Order: sequence, then structure tokens, then C-alpha cells
Amino acid sequence: YASSVQPVCKPSAYSAFDDDYADEDWDNLGFGVTPTDYMYTMKCSKDENFQQGLLTRYGNIELSPSAGVLNYGQAVFEGTKAWRKEDGRLLLFRPDQNAIRMQIGAERMCMPSPSIEQFVGAVKQTALANKRWVPPPGKGSLYIRPILMGSGPILGLASAPEYTLLVYASPVRNYFKEGSAPLNLHIDKDLVRATPGGAGGVKSITNYAPVLQALSRAKNRGYSDVLYLDSVNKKNVEEVSSCNIFIVKGNVISTPATNGTILPGVTRKSLIEIAGDHGYKVEERIIPVDELIDADEVFCTGTAVGVAPVQTITYNNRRIEYITGAQSVCQELYLTLVGIQTGLIEDTKSWTIEI
Ligand code: COI
Repeated sequence: YASSVQPVCKPSAYSAFDDDYADEDWDNLGFGVTPTDYMYTMKCSKDENFQQGLLTRYGNIELSPSAGVLNYGQAVFEGTKAWRKEDGRLLLFRPDQNAIRMQIGAERMCMPSPSIEQFVGAVKQTALANKRWVPPPGKGSLYIRPILMGSGPILGLASAPEYTLLVYASPVRNYFKEGSAPLNLHIDKDLVRATPGGAGGVKSITNYAPVLQALSRAKNRGYSDVLYLDSVNKKNVEEVSSCNIFIVKGNVISTPATNGTILPGVTRKSLIEIAGDHGYKVEERIIPVDELIDADEVFCTGTAVGVAPVQTITYNNRRIEYITGAQSVCQELYLTLVGIQTGLIEDTKSWTIEI
């Protein structure tokens, strides 16, 4: 597609925007699509490597009706954020981890993938080109969405002849309509998110539409989101539609092990490390749903979601309540993570990239 796409200019030319903010209501950002200024595109043919990408004006794209992504869902995506520091510079958070996850997902979905350098470069360029859309400190972040898709035409079931990495961005704040208030989750025993041998462990686009039915059912009943159980025994906790889950009991913090049906979240991985640094014992393991009954706290993690406390989980018509608030473990770990992401806490782990 996009034979009409023309390069507009190099990122260095955007310095004119440096001190400007876009005309946006920064106090009322949720998690929606705001069209920004530029997007990044890089293409390659099957069996080739990605070469040079380019920035173009943000806008609709053109695809063949028989594109692999439209017909057979051949695509993976990522989510990463740029934060504005008090001094105006931008910080990216571990984009190399998203690059690696995209490479693993691409292999699972039979696609070529960008190198780590190409991926991180594309994210950097997209963030810088849209710098005026990065919210002021304390008001949110610029969510950056890289998508790798089979863009070439294919009719019989096979991998597409051409691939596109597309990166766009949108300013965001709270993912849930609850804002920063604790979530109420519902366990749905009928619908599962992922099956052993499936693609639940990679960020395939095919993992998301199938949970919409359970999600809308839960939202219609007043819940924030759905907590899925394992598909085989319907007995162990797996994850929420859009994020990973952690449970806290005393000094022990547990999260389901990444066994192929759990998405290996970048926030999940970072939180595990932060929790260890804070003296908690962290366990990645199978978590029977019954353990939810005795847990002190439950919280969710994800790039979009951040670190979100859970107030209640409803399972078999039983509503279980958890500790939340200023003194919670969730809040302690969240403040450290967001402090590193926004440059308020020294990044001793080299997780952030200043651009
Ligand atoms: C993210 O957390 O970045 C995601 O991609 C989840 C998505 C459902 C918004």
C-alpha cells in the first residue's frame, strides 16, 4: 500500500515544535485515539530484511483487499510510551524489550521483523515527530503503537508477500474509565483468552477481538474487565483482557508464569524486578483461582494500563475484596515505576532512553 506516501522530512527538522504543545485538553485525557502529526512506515518483501523507513503525515493507509492482515490476521503489535520530563526532554521506557517481543511474535506468525535498532529508531522518530503531543509532566504520556503486518496480497492461506511496520502515536492517560480508582474484575468461566499451543504468549492481533464478547458482557454488568482462567482446567488464574495480574500475600508477590498462554509484559517484567529490589519475594508460578480468596492485594500491569489496583474480584457469584490505597504494596511499586519512567527517580537500570 501507500505508494503515494512521501517522506516529509527528517526528525531533526521538528525542533521547531520543541517548546510547543498541541491544542489538547491535557486535563481530560483518557485512552482514546487522538490523531497526531506523523506516523512511521517501513516495508519489506517476504524473505528480505527491512531497510529504510520514513515519516509521513498521520493519516489513513491504503491496503489491498487481499492483504494478509485483513484476511488472515497476520500481524503483531506493541505498545510503548514516551514521557515528558520536567526539563522538557522525552523519555522512552525499555523500547528494546518491545522490539525483542515483536521479533518473537513475528517468528510465531511467520513474518520478517525489524532489528532492535530499526524498531527503537522508528519509535524514537515517531515520538520526536509528535513531540507536541506528549502531555505535560503529570498529565499522561504519548502511547506509541508499532504494528507489524502482512500487508501484501494473498488469497490461499500462506504468509503474505510483503510486510509493513507502521508506528503511530496518541496522547493518553488512564486506560480505564474508572480513572485511577481501583478496578472490579469478573472471572468468566465460559470464554478463554488463550490455549496451550496457541498464540496467547505473543502480541498477535488475533488475541484481542476474541475477548471482546466477555469484555462487553462484563462491562454491561458494571465490571471494569475480565480475569481469564486457564483453558484446560478452568482452575488457574491467567490474565486480564488487556494486562497481566499480580497477587500479594504478606511479603510474597505472585504472578502467573509465562508458559505460552501469558503475555510477557514489559511492565510485568519491570515490576517483578522492582518488587525484588523492594525486598519482596516474587514468584512466577501457577496460581490456583482459590488463592484469590486469601490474597491481601491484587493489581494489574500493562503498558496501557500502567499499574492498576484491584478492589474486587467476583467469581462464582462471590465478591472478594482487597486492600487498596496509599499504604498498599501496589502503590509503593507503582510510584517507583512511574518515577523511573518520568525521570523523577534515578534510573540505575538504564531502562529509560532520553531523546
Ligand atoms: C498495551 O498495554 O500496550 C496493550 O497493547 C494492551 C491493549 C489492549 C491496549
